[in-house]
Amino acid sequence: MTETNADHNDSYPPTTEFAAAANADVSLYERAAADREGFWAEQAQRLHWHQPFTQVLDWTDAPVATWFGGGQLNVAYNCLDRHVIDGHGDQVAIHFEGEPGDTRALTYAELLAEVSRAANYLTQLGLVAGDRVAIYMPMIPEAIIAILACARLGLTHSVVFAGFSPTALRQRIDDAQARLVITTDGQWRRGTPAPLKDAVDQALTTDDAPHTVEHVLVVRRTGIEVPWTENRDLWWHDTIAHASPTHQAQPFDAEHPLFILYTSGTTGKPKGILHTSGGYLTQTSYTHHTVFDHKPDTDIYWCTADIGWITGHSYIVYGPLSNRVTQVVYEGTPNFPDEHRHFQIIEKYGVTLYYTAPTLIRTFMKWGRQIPDTHDLTSLRLLGSVGEPINPEAWRWYRDVIGAGTTPIVDTWWQTETGAIMISPLPGVTATKPGAAMTPLPGISAQVVDEEGTPVRHGETEANGYLVLDQPWPSMLRGIWGDMDRYRETYWTRYADQGWYFAGDGAKLDTDGDLWILGRVDDVMNISGHRISTAEVESALVAHPAVAEAAVVGATDPTTGQGIVAFVILTADATDTGQALITELKAQVSTQISPIARPRDIHIVPELPKTRSGKIMRRLLRDVAEGRQLGDTSTLVDPTVFESIARG
Ligand code: PRX
Repeated sequence: MTETNADHNDSYPPTTEFAAAANADVSLYERAAADREGFWAEQAQRLHWHQPFTQVLDWTDAPVATWFGGGQLNVAYNCLDRHVIDGHGDQVAIHFEGEPGDTRALTYAELLAEVSRAANYLTQLGLVAGDRVAIYMPMIPEAIIAILACARLGLTHSVVFAGFSPTALRQRIDDAQARLVITTDGQWRRGTPAPLKDAVDQALTTDDAPHTVEHVLVVRRTGIEVPWTENRDLWWHDTIAHASPTHQAQPFDAEHPLFILYTSGTTGKPKGILHTSGGYLTQTSYTHHTVFDHKPDTDIYWCTADIGWITGHSYIVYGPLSNRVTQVVYEGTPNFPDEHRHFQIIEKYGVTLYYTAPTLIRTFMKWGRQIPDTHDLTSLRLLGSVGEPINPEAWRWYRDVIGAGTTPIVDTWWQTETGAIMISPLPGVTATKPGAAMTPLPGISAQVVDEEGTPVRHGETEANGYLVLDQPWPSMLRGIWGDMDRYRETYWTRYADQGWYFAGDGAKLDTDGDLWILGRVDDVMNISGHRISTAEVESALVAHPAVAEAAVVGATDPTTGQGIVAFVILTADATDTGQALITELKAQVSTQISPIARPRDIHIVPELPKTRSGKIMRRLLRDVAEGRQLGDTSTLVDPTVFESIARG
């Protein structure tokens, strides 16, 4: 379906019943507009502060913010202890559904005991507040326990997605100088155990360079054999499982580093995005409460993200647990053992709030509505979307087929860097439009501007431009780990005069002034909601001896949003120039980065289109990759290059 202006008039107001019981109401916008800092101070009262804060925001050291200065809190205490103290120890926090069908329910009291054991043992290992811990685990309860144990002790965790390669893991371990790695023996992949600790062993031995890791703590998940390094490797069940289940949480400053999460930038080197404690927890808690309309006594929440990404951090671990959620945590893929799995889970647990990514919605569409139609999905009362623009057709299908034509949809725009949701409808308040992220949340300020920073919309016309955040927000990143210059350059130089954060996304304001996110305007691709930089894939390709030069673009893909298309020039002495090499190059990218970065297509070409200044014209390569007529080629050194690409 093509997006037309008619889409803008297609609007879905909330029902009166939903609005009457909603956590949010329109007064939130008014209160936030009248007194932004007062509004955030009020939201911070959702948390337990060991020591009250004395200043809401200090922005004098911009672009590094101090939120809730003078305040002290313990993030894990806020996610666990206070719920138990308030008499909710028997409430299920996590309904775990393992891929092979094993299940486990953990109450708040049990989760607190497990986290306390882990905290006691990590202390015994000599780890102290400020140390970094790498977590490389599949979606099992111990991953959440490990994260919360770090938070409890003020250890800064760096979760590395368990699909990342040993090289990627090592790069992240080294950058953060992690003292400990927590992993599992293996992980379930479509009914088969696949090794995982092996990757940690490889990461720590890939080269002879010294590393900072003292111990590797291993959870037994699949029971497969694992190689063992005496004195370094420790089994979770031999150590943590025997530690004391009581632990006194100590408060930390509001700005104490909580975690580092690596994300792709426009260069090959991933950026370690740093988040801190009080502001991050305030905004994740507030947004989870208002955007998902979460009711702790009745809702069953399910966010399908992996803890390896920011969505898992903010909307599986911190926001939901701070709000005393009962949630489903699922280990596996949506089509194992078959395409019914997600819908069976919704039915089995009576999921009421479901948060997923457009790529999965489009996959469900491809499988056909006959699959969800055989399940009772009537428990669902709200659906969320995140990670990439949701096309209006997928939006409508989501609401009609999964949401019985009645549930509100919240299309939530945010980033690893923003830490929490920034632009989204509020259920019960906003009349939503298919495909639009609508307006900044109360307390958040955004604009759509041109290159110079002038707002693009004048009067009632529709206009496109760049998305900027023109006011600091509590869960904003506090920097790039170890590289504050890169932090300033990446986000704060484009609109340095105005002091705005440049998000890297293009956006449109429609005739009503509502926001539509158009996607990245930099060299970052979005594959199934995962950020991958063109430079990262290019450097993995040129690391192959047969490749002299590579250029990578994200081409539109009906299911994954974008697909990776690579153009490579071979070295003169490359002998193999056919399909076998292409297969080898795809495998090379998978092993160097991750299977999610594997190119969809690789074209071997004799030349690449370059400007006179030597810049590769990606825009033109995208035209080629998407089979379009070529755009303007006048700035090219050699416009005939496309004839040779076509011949190649
Ligand atoms: O391009 C935007 C897209 O995902 C980018 C952020 O990616 P990441 O840091 O991995 O975080 C993903 C989960 C929050 C953004 O710059 N994006 C995210 N949400 C949306 C979106 N694009 C359109 N609509 C969204 N709702």
